[in-house]
Amino acid sequence: MIRTKILGLGSYVPDRVVPNSEIPYLNDRHEVCAEQQTDTSHEWIEQRSGIRERRYVPNDGSVGCSDLALIASQRALEDAGLRADEVDCIILGSLSPDIHFPGTAVFLQEKLGISGGGCACFDIRQQCSSFVYGLQMADAFVRTGAYQRVLLVGSEVHSHSLDFTTRGRDVMVLFGDGAGAVVVGPVESDDPREGVIHTQCHADGSGAWDLYMKVFEISHAPFVWYDARDREENQTMYPQMKGKKVFMNAVKRMVEATQQALHTTGLSWDDIDWFVPHQANLRINQKVAELARIPSEKVLNTIEIYGNTTAATVPLTLDYHRQQGRAKRGDLVLSTVFGSGYTWGSTVFRF
Ligand code: COA
Repeated sequence: MIRTKILGLGSYVPDRVVPNSEIPYLNDRHEVCAEQQTDTSHEWIEQRSGIRERRYVPNDGSVGCSDLALIASQRALEDAGLRADEVDCIILGSLSPDIHFPGTAVFLQEKLGISGGGCACFDIRQQCSSFVYGLQMADAFVRTGAYQRVLLVGSEVHSHSLDFTTRGRDVMVLFGDGAGAVVVGPVESDDPREGVIHTQCHADGSGAWDLYMKVFEISHAPFVWYDARDREENQTMYPQMKGKKVFMNAVKRMVEATQQALHTTGLSWDDIDWFVPHQANLRINQKVAELARIPSEKVLNTIEIYGNTTAATVPLTLDYHRQQGRAKRGDLVLSTVFGSGYTWGSTVFRF
């Protein structure tokens, strides 16, 4: 039977490292000011989230979501030994797209040099759950024969839409820029432990207003009713979050999804090499590991050095630990995600 195999993996983070010590002094152009801009500290950020630093794109507007996605995609293609023109489908997850429409996948397609009609483009909007949602789509596409080579990429430029004042500190300190990508394709195999073994997605729209960003409300007219230049009054253009509620739901749903993945596949932690959770908060991942009885040495994190890169976290984290010599080809990975929506899910795959 046809199964879906991960053919290549790649990631990219911009060069600028922003340590916690800089965060209180950054203005909204990401310049380090002499005077403190935000009432926060390295100690608070590290203690509450585990984050020590994150990456930001240059502050001159020269790098957008599709640019980070391009480099991660090129690296995944190189890893797979494929040319860009062999990709016949792109699925791109992002909450920080280049522009409102069209979606960013078409800009990535053009930058990859494969525009012209031979490659379908999907943009998905499942925020931190994009990797599992996208992999479920890619797996279905490959197994039904709809597409042969699917590029699944998550890319985020968060630094352009954070509130660098005390008002926005709960969200601002958590997020970073980065991208991660996989290329998948068909393999003929009857081994149920080959390729993508399990994907399961869930959503609960009653949590939608617990983590959101409006920018403008297209359901209302006029769409932009506020003074977009008014930084002090205007909360519309920045993410809003009920942190504690999101935290509690993330733990609950990630534990459930992890247990569901084990139950559905009949696998145990003896079989699985790595747990790659979404990277929102180190304390969330530690709690999930404790409640789902995941051996701590099997948990892969990058939140400490990259912060939360939303749609990018899972491939970015797996690729980082491959580069560190931990995860390797042939390993069995269980990944669980949770994000705005609420959306969540799990996947098991042979890497
Ligand atoms: N620096 C300093 N103080 C801060 C702060 C910051 N960056 N952000 C919030 N605080 C303050 C709060 O105002 C509050 O002050 P108060 O007690 O005087 O009211 C205090 O710190 C505690 O805030 P609280 O929200 O209770 O902290 P917390 O332990 O819940 O941690 C988060 C806050 C945001 C780190 C945590 O709730 C979280 O990670 N939530 C989930 C985030 C997430 O997963 N998001 C993405 C989903 S994919």
